[in-house]
Amino acid sequence: MNIRRFGVSVEENILSALDTYVKKHSFPNRSRAIRHLIKSTLVNEKVDENKMVAGAIVIVYDHHHRELNSKLMHVQHEYHDAILSTQHVHLEHDLCLETIAVKGKSKTLQELADRIIGTKGIKHGKLVMTDIE
Ligand code: NI
Repeated sequence: MNIRRFGVSVEENILSALDTYVKKHSFPNRSRAIRHLIKSTLVNEKVDENKMVAGAIVIVYDHHHRELNSKLMHVQHEYHDAILSTQHVHLEHDLCLETIAVKGKSKTLQELADRIIGTKGIKHGKLVMTDIE
């Protein structure tokens, strides 16, 4: 198979997390580790998009970030059919942890999670899904 090179820009802390991951799993180099991460993520993408699933979107953010709260609220109202509940915890002085319980087609939940996690100011975000059929 042809190997192609491409440039990737990441924050310093992501790069050092990658280096820790490379060491921990004894990858010979960063490229191998990145290949592994891409492949394993793409496998998860293959789940049937129309399957009914339930899960949670977990996000951590700084509530001082301009307009973030209203943007998050706006997206959640757009997807109100898929959202079962939202729990907000004031984690630290500036940090909030939100757990959004969701249910619907996996495609819809992925869309919703991408919109939420992709919002500027979200520090960390993850979608967990499980089969309910
Ligand atoms: Ni809070």
